[in-house]
Amino acid sequence: MSSWNIVLIGFMGSGKTTVGREVARRLGWSFVDTDDEIERGAGKSIAAIFADEGEDHFRRLEKEVVCRLAASKERVIATGGGVVKDGDNLRTLAATGVLFWLRLEPEEIYRRIRGQQVVRPLLEVADPLGEIRRLLQERESSYAKADFIIDGKGTVDAVADAIIAKMNRWRGR
Ligand code: S3P
Repeated sequence: MSSWNIVLIGFMGSGKTTVGREVARRLGWSFVDTDDEIERGAGKSIAAIFADEGEDHFRRLEKEVVCRLAASKERVIATGGGVVKDGDNLRTLAATGVLFWLRLEPEEIYRRIRGQQVVRPLLEVADPLGEIRRLLQERESSYAKADFIIDGKGTVDAVADAIIAKMNRWRGR
């Protein structure tokens, strides 16, 4: 599996970070999350970046982080749900990584997000489920460009198993 990264894409709340950590642990690879990197670089939370400088600025920071992380290898990279908005990001990540889309239905995404503490500025709206449906529809064709589509609904172990199995098969291609 050497020389490649594993890149997890998909909507907010689809388990990219939790599953990514588990995949990295099992492979003995390092794990990195684009949102964490952005927060570290900016010295503030994603919510504060959106509030202070706006989404466009956040997307510029995200693109810089993507370029930097794509230059690594043997890493599991969990991305923010909107990373696919810029087609360059997908191409950059695909040049050095195998892309996995963790797919979930909008209702399941909503259920998970409601139970989490993290503030997602794009979902701070009157009708979050409606917004999840709308954004998902807008982004679906971009997520579908992943090398593999993984059902995100299982346990963390099951989803990690599925990714590693696909990765092994891909290696032997
Ligand atoms: C976003 C997803 C978030 C974060 C930001 C914007 C999006 O990451 O990058 O709030 O546009 O879907 P997660 O997918 O990790 O929640």
